[in-house]
Amino acid sequence: MTFTNKIMVFDNSKEVAKKTAEIFVNAVARKPNIILGLPTGKTFIPIYREVVRLSKKKKISFAKVRTFNLDEFYGLKIGEKGSFSNYMNKNLFDKVDIKRQNIFMLNGNARDFSKECAVYENKIKKLGGIDLQFLGLGVNGHIGFNEPGSAFGSRTRRVKLTSYTRKLNAFLFSSATSVPRYALTMGIGTILDAKKIILVATGKSKSGIVREIVRGKINKKIPASALCRHKNVTLILDKDAARLLS
Ligand code: GLP
Repeated sequence: MTFTNKIMVFDNSKEVAKKTAEIFVNAVARKPNIILGLPTGKTFIPIYREVVRLSKKKKISFAKVRTFNLDEFYGLKIGEKGSFSNYMNKNLFDKVDIKRQNIFMLNGNARDFSKECAVYENKIKKLGGIDLQFLGLGVNGHIGFNEPGSAFGSRTRRVKLTSYTRKLNAFLFSSATSVPRYALTMGIGTILDAKKIILVATGKSKSGIVREIVRGKINKKIPASALCRHKNVTLILDKDAARLLS
């Protein structure tokens, strides 16, 4: 099996941000009440900046857009420093006219996390499923917080983070040791239910894992390789991330 989905390669991360933002904003323009799946991570900071700029320029409203974020650290309060809710407010939600009631994020501080995850799954289903899911890529191949070894049919749940992933997320906190050990994340199965998926990867550090995905060999050690099973995936890469592709 080979990766039969679409691959787009750009000169640098700036061009990647421009293209991804264009797809994002055009999708909202086409379907104002679209349901988006959103990631966090460093890769998406310039993308959200460009989404804000472009939507203002094109006068695209987010008033009817619904969003579901992929994941959240377990044990953090909504909006707390380091939380993905804080990241999303700062980078996107505070800067567009999205309605608070249309933003869905896992509450990392929920007393009953199993219930929180089940309610999240049901909410996605009830609203009709995610139309367009944006994804970043972990250097270890994770999508959302589905670390290597995650079942491809997994649903939203609590997961233990690897020390490597905690280190890479330290930029959100004062130190790597402050990064929570657990997170709540949509499962791989939840992600694969999205109608369309866009995976964005930039930089040399992602090139090895990008090659593995494109090779099309489904491997539980590389969660993102599950994307080969989806019919409508686009990879948006910069040259560095694509450097090992023939
Ligand atoms: C993080 C997040 C993912 C993100 C990925 C890549 O840990 N849980 O949603 O897409 O890892 O992050 P970055 O863009 O910083 O490389």
